[in-house]
Parts: sequence; structure tokens; C-alpha cells
Amino acid sequence: MSDRFLVTGGARLAGEIAVAGAKNSVLKLMAAALLAEGTTVLENCPRIQDVPLMIEVLRGLGCEVTWEENVGRITITTPAEPNYHADFEAVRQFRASVCVLGPLIARRGKAIVAIPGGDAIGSRPLDMHQSGLETLGAETSISHGCLVAEAEHLKGAHIKLAFPSVGATENIVTAAVLSEGTTILENAACEPEIVDLCTMLQQMGAKIEGVGQSVLTVHGVEKLNPISHRVIGDRVVAATWAFAAAMTRGDITVTGINPDYLTVVLMKLQSAGADVDTWEDGFRVRQESRPVATNFQTLPYPGFPTDLQPMAIGLAAIAEGESMVTENVFEARFRFVEEMVRLGADAYIDGHHAVIRGVEKLSSAPVWASDIRAGAGLVLAALLTDGVTEIHDVYHIDRGYPDMVAQLQSLGGEISRVSDETSASS
Ligand code: UD1
Repeated sequence: MSDRFLVTGGARLAGEIAVAGAKNSVLKLMAAALLAEGTTVLENCPRIQDVPLMIEVLRGLGCEVTWEENVGRITITTPAEPNYHADFEAVRQFRASVCVLGPLIARRGKAIVAIPGGDAIGSRPLDMHQSGLETLGAETSISHGCLVAEAEHLKGAHIKLAFPSVGATENIVTAAVLSEGTTILENAACEPEIVDLCTMLQQMGAKIEGVGQSVLTVHGVEKLNPISHRVIGDRVVAATWAFAAAMTRGDITVTGINPDYLTVVLMKLQSAGADVDTWEDGFRVRQESRPVATNFQTLPYPGFPTDLQPMAIGLAAIAEGESMVTENVFEARFRFVEEMVRLGADAYIDGHHAVIRGVEKLSSAPVWASDIRAGAGLVLAALLTDGVTEIHDVYHIDRGYPDMVAQLQSLGGEISRVSDETSASS
């Protein structure tokens, strides 16, 4: 049994929120610390549940790790020879653990990484991670629930990804930085979190060209050095608050985020009727009247992020008119829509399209979060209901949203956390 949220609908959210570092960056940067012997320091780390899990993985690999939660600092001391076996218990709990694969094979010539468990958003195979490492000269196999990769030494090569996979790009780059010679990676993912990783690797001494573009050229070096690095802001959390403003006809200012990461998202909110102002490290979203129906299509960056698809469905559910949301990245990401329907959304799914006819008000009901972003989408939808919505399995939300309850309360939302013992607390 996990904690629940009780969300009372009706509030118009207003105020200012500072976002912390990105989940999808910090976990990868922590893994990248394995590439250099010595002490790496990461600043602006978010207080989310995936961070202690990654700390457990790194400790299992022989690193010393401290996490100063209050100041957002993680300090990782990597030994000369980290272990190469990331064991099942910690790894199976979250997908990002697979990003230790590239650094381990680069440092140790061998990596055994337990295959992360299934996910409610799709099957998430690792074939591109494997074939990329194989092109660099590794042998890979699946054995006893683990992905095993071995290479006497890695050699730069020309790799073309069939799809710009974020995880495969990260594992290939982190393996290539210590390979012999030059690797050219075509159709690489361009997400800001990949740029953050490449920037950190460059600071460590890696030679990477084309950062932020779809062709990355990596000239292997012999050794990398540990450094200090500040994690970029979390664009998905920032955008969740932007959707909250638009959906509740509110007025929210978000700081700690480069709005360039959200160009398409903010444009879409403008189409739905929001006023948007941006500046160097923040933005403000205001919505006066009921949002108008808007179509969304998820795509790799710089397209509309799949991680915001549940928020798009939430907006469409209460917008005036009919919207279509198309999911192009994860095949099973619409599973949570049945929870939206439980809240009164008028939605049906046809393959990878969802058609949603907006209603004026949703209707409170018990619902279940199936993954981090679906959970956040349900919280936003619950704000538009006519009563108290009980959201179960909120441990998913804790994996990616620091202090969701306190942050929502600070904007005027009515929300409380209820633990198994049924004692309500914030
Ligand atoms: C990362 C993010 C996740 C985000 C996703 C897409 C982390 C921890 N997670 O996930 O929040 O939703 O990017 O922006 O950073 N695929 C294959 N074979 C592979 C690898 C991927 O078929 O070897 C497929 C996946 O099943 C999916 C698509 O490619 O359909 C995109 O996946 P990918 O970009 O790799 O996502 P993740 O890195 O897992």
C-alpha cells in the first residue's frame, strides 16, 4: 500500500514556483561520475525518490556518495576500479539505472546491469543500447536477467540510430568518450538533458562536437577528470506548472528553467488561450478564460515531450471543443486515460490517437497513478473536479516531483497526503 493524495477541485492556482534540477539529467550525471576516478560534485539536485535509488546503485558499484538534500548537492567519490556489476535490487526499481552501462564498459571493459523492470508506458527495449555498444566493439547478451556487455577495448565507429533514443544516445556517448578513435553518432537525441550530459563530459575533458545536434562526433580520450557541475532545471516539472496555470485559469511564474527548452510547449499553451511571458531563466503563464481545444503530437525534442502527454490530455479534457492528442514515442502511454475517464473526461483512444471532447467540469473519483507523469496529470485534472479526488499510488509522483504537496499548496491548491495509517498530513 502506498500513500494517497486527496485533491479538492476548484482552486485557481497563482504564485511563484522555483524548479530544481531535472530528474532526467541528474540520474545520468550521477552515472557519468563513474567515468572519472575522484570526487564529482553535482549541484541543484532535486529531492525526488529516484535520487536515493541511484545513490544505492553507485554505492553498490563502490562509490562513496553523500547527498546534502537541503542544499541540493550530491558528492560522488569514484574508486580507481568501480565494480562492474549493478545488481538487481536497486536497478530493477527505475529505468534510468541502465545509464551506468556506458560508463562501466568504458571504465572496466565489462558491465553487468540488471534489466530494469517493465513500465506502464510501454515495453522499452534496450536493442539500440546493445547494438550501439556492439558497433563500438563490445559483445552483449542477456543472461540471468542482466544485460552483459564486454569489450577488450572499445573502438570509435559510425553508428546510426533507428530512432533518437535518449537512453541509447547517453550510453553510446558515455562509452565513446573513453574509446580509441572517433565515434560518429547519427540521429542522436537532442534533448536538453543530453546537452547537459555532454557539457559535463566536456568539462571532464571529453572531446565532443555537435552537442545539441543530431550528429554527435566523439573523439575518445585516455582519461577524464572529476569536476563540479550544476544540473539544468527540470523542464517537465516546469511545464507541469504551466499546464496547471492554463487549466485552472490561474497565473503561475516558474523560475529556475530556461524557457527555450519549452518553446513548443509554451506555444501550444498560447494556442489554448494562455498569455505567456518568458525571460532568461523563467516564464509566466496566465489564463483568463476556459482553454480552447488544442491538438498535441508527441515527438522527440524539440517536439512536444511525451512526458507531458498526460498534461495535454488533462487540458483537452476541460477545454472548449474537441482535441486530438497523438502519441508517437511510447506505445502504451495512453493506458492512464481510463483514469481520466473515471474523472469524467470524454475521451476515446484509436491506436496512437486520443480524441477528447472537453467538458466544463470533471467529477471527483478514486483514481490510480500508473507512472510519474500520469500521476501528475491526474493531480492537475483533480483540480478541475467538483469535489475531493483520491489519487492512489502516489509513490510514482514522488519519483519525479519534489514536494508536490507543498508546492501545490503554495499556489493555493487544496491537497493533502494520506498515509496507510490514514492520518492526513502535508
Ligand atoms: C527517456 C526519459 C523519459 C522520456 C523519454 C523520451 C529518462 C530517465 N527517461 O526515456 O522520461 O519519456 O526519454 O523522451 O531520461 N527504444 C527502443 N529501443 C531502445 C531504446 C528505446 O525501441 O534500445 C524505444 C522506446 O521503447 C521508446 C522510444 O524508443 O518507444 C524512445 O525511448 P528513449 O528515448 O530511449 O526513452 P528513455 O531513454 O527510456
